[in-house]
Amino acid sequence: MPETYSFPKVLIAGGAGYIGSHTAKLFYQAGIVPVVLDNLSTGNRAALRFGPFYEGSIADSRLIGRISEQHQPIGAILFAGAAYVGESTENPRKYFRNNVSDSICFLDAIVDAGIRRVVFSSSCCVYGNVQESISIREDRATAPLSPYGETKLFLEKVLRWYGSAYGLQSICLRYFNAAGADTEGELGELHDPETHLIPLAIQAALGGKPLRIFGTDYATPDGTAIRDYTHVTDLADGHLRALKHLLDGGESLTLNLGTGIGHSVRQVIRAVEQQAGLAVPINYGPRRDGDAPALVADPSRAREVLGWVPEYSSLETIVSTAWRWYREVDRASHCARAVAN
Ligand SMILES: NC(=O)c1ccc[n+]([C@@H]2O[C@H](COP(=O)([O-])OP(=O)(O)OC[C@H]3O[C@@H](n4cnc5c(N)ncnc54)[C@H](O)[C@@H]3O)[C@@H](O)[C@H]2O)c1
Repeated sequence: MPETYSFPKVLIAGGAGYIGSHTAKLFYQAGIVPVVLDNLSTGNRAALRFGPFYEGSIADSRLIGRISEQHQPIGAILFAGAAYVGESTENPRKYFRNNVSDSICFLDAIVDAGIRRVVFSSSCCVYGNVQESISIREDRATAPLSPYGETKLFLEKVLRWYGSAYGLQSICLRYFNAAGADTEGELGELHDPETHLIPLAIQAALGGKPLRIFGTDYATPDGTAIRDYTHVTDLADGHLRALKHLLDGGESLTLNLGTGIGHSVRQVIRAVEQQAGLAVPINYGPRRDGDAPALVADPSRAREVLGWVPEYSSLETIVSTAWRWYREVDRASHCARAVAN
């Protein structure tokens, strides 16, 4: 009888989305088969290339039971959720439903299926209105300013209690700003509507709507807000390391994933203009409520515990990979329009 060998598998909820699809690719490359569960509410079918796919909701416990029985995942990653801060203040019920109650259904289903390790997508939004310009450590007081941030913080708390009650070991990863695209050009960011600075700046350079800058009077060197942009492949690597940490018997943790380096809105625009060789048309608006002047991670804990060191997160690499991806998308949509006409 030939010896059969099956690769370990991981359940990725939200694996058709931006960060989830890049993570699925990295797991696949590491020899762990990603089994994706996604309802495609904001995800993309074209990003599903690396393992089995199940279309459905994280609230569907029977489906999760079936997937778990068939694939026996060694752990789960929960990316699935609604992720627009502004929308969450206008439609909080959508956020509490999806990011809290449906997410708890997901946790219940994986616990019932015997899965004992989960990595969760949290956010720097849990920190709230940071006014000081120091980098943020995980033990800083939390005070979310939006329903979105509240849902992330709440799920972190749920996970702590599920750890002590059901033995569900977890790592909550608080991302700062995910950015960039797959370095091989295979995947990228395709949100609709798009709210993130770098894709909006690229779209503006390519002839889309002018980019709106919210606030030019912050107490920062050039007056615009400063954020910590982390390449999506570096974030993906953080998930692989987090799951390995748990599989090696490591304790549950909450960790920042950021670079520790901030870039202002104007610096990002300049980087896009240099990459594109085109001007980014701009219009100016007032500050938005609740936008902090600077949000920069202190990532030292993730480095110490997981050995996580961002490799692709220079602003140049982030912008060049995003640019390459958007040129492809732009070309493809021009071709589709030409065929349709
Ligand atoms: N992008 C960022 O900068 C950022 C920063 C901090 C935190 N996060 C968090 O990271 C996660 C992933 O973010 P993203 O930018 O990749 O978002 P995304 O919208 O691209 O991906 C989310 C995926 O989850 C799926 N999904 C949503 N609700 C679902 C449900 N009920 N059942 C099944 N699938 C569902 C969507 O179809 C999509 O594929 C989110 O939880 C987000 O809140 C993102």
